[in-house]
Amino acid sequence: MKRTEIGVALLGFGNVGSGTYKALEENFALIEKKVGAKVVIKKILVRNLNAPRRVEAPAELFTTDFEEILRDPKIDIVAELLGGINPATGYIRAALTAGKHVVTANKAALAVHLPDLNKAAAFHKCMLRYEASVCGAIPVIGCISRALTANRITAVKGIVNGTTNYILTRMAAEGASYEDVLKDAQALGFAEADPTGDVEGYDAANKLSVLMATAFGIYRAPDSFERVGITGVTMEDLAAAEAEGKVIKLLACAEEKDGGIEAYVKPVAVEKDSFLGRCGSEFNAVQIDCNMAGPIFLQGKGAGPEPTGSAVLGDIIEIAQAIAAGTEHEQPFTALI
Ligand code: HSE
Repeated sequence: MKRTEIGVALLGFGNVGSGTYKALEENFALIEKKVGAKVVIKKILVRNLNAPRRVEAPAELFTTDFEEILRDPKIDIVAELLGGINPATGYIRAALTAGKHVVTANKAALAVHLPDLNKAAAFHKCMLRYEASVCGAIPVIGCISRALTANRITAVKGIVNGTTNYILTRMAAEGASYEDVLKDAQALGFAEADPTGDVEGYDAANKLSVLMATAFGIYRAPDSFERVGITGVTMEDLAAAEAEGKVIKLLACAEEKDGGIEAYVKPVAVEKDSFLGRCGSEFNAVQIDCNMAGPIFLQGKGAGPEPTGSAVLGDIIEIAQAIAAGTEHEQPFTALI
């Protein structure tokens, strides 16, 4: 029977949840046309029903009861936008077990659990998609797993954290203090709930782990490779780089070397006038080296409610299209692990 409506639950209504809601509201008619059915938010899981919201939504959508979402047969897709490993990982697993497809933006959960979550999705014949977990709006996961799938990928490198790029850009350009710029990054919705994850490079390491799974089909835990954040970068370091025509960027890099994959996250001085050197503010940039396509360069907003919401919604739409076509139980995985 032709579906006229596809139901979605959002877990979380912070920066990413509200950005996703807003993107769906704004482009509702366009999305209905693309899917051939209405994509409707049925429930929004929050911790506190009375918390202030950055985007308005009808009060009846909000619930504090995850079980209510699991039991609701009208909910086809669960979008996990809570962040953090727990309870998010348990919710993703429970949703898959209940036969619901899952979209997640949660790089911390995926960096630890992608192999077993992929297995759970396969077992329950559900789709698991996670474009928004890496580089915000940039379609790097889809690019690697679909458009570049004919290639052996030999390297993935770039700027994958918006908060640190925003901080380093403003410190270098304006001489602004680290503390002030970090506050602005938080107010703009770029930073994690605990910004230590951003500035100490944990967030970038999580994203690199997800990228490696997608690009190389290998699982490398984020604590298994070098990780250095930006808290040790001083104004003197920035000035010394500037004197050499360079800028300091927090780079995440994974490349084939000596029969293995070498990976790191660390601050590196790059030429100002280069692909990565020109990528400023909360923008991210990724270079993907391929054995057939050659190098591919992607750049866009790597953080922020609407850019990240755009990536979440892209995955929701892909699943909704599969549901509308009746092929949702036959879709390939994104990562080969
Ligand atoms: N805190 C993250 C960043 C959000 O700044 O990149 C997007 O993943």
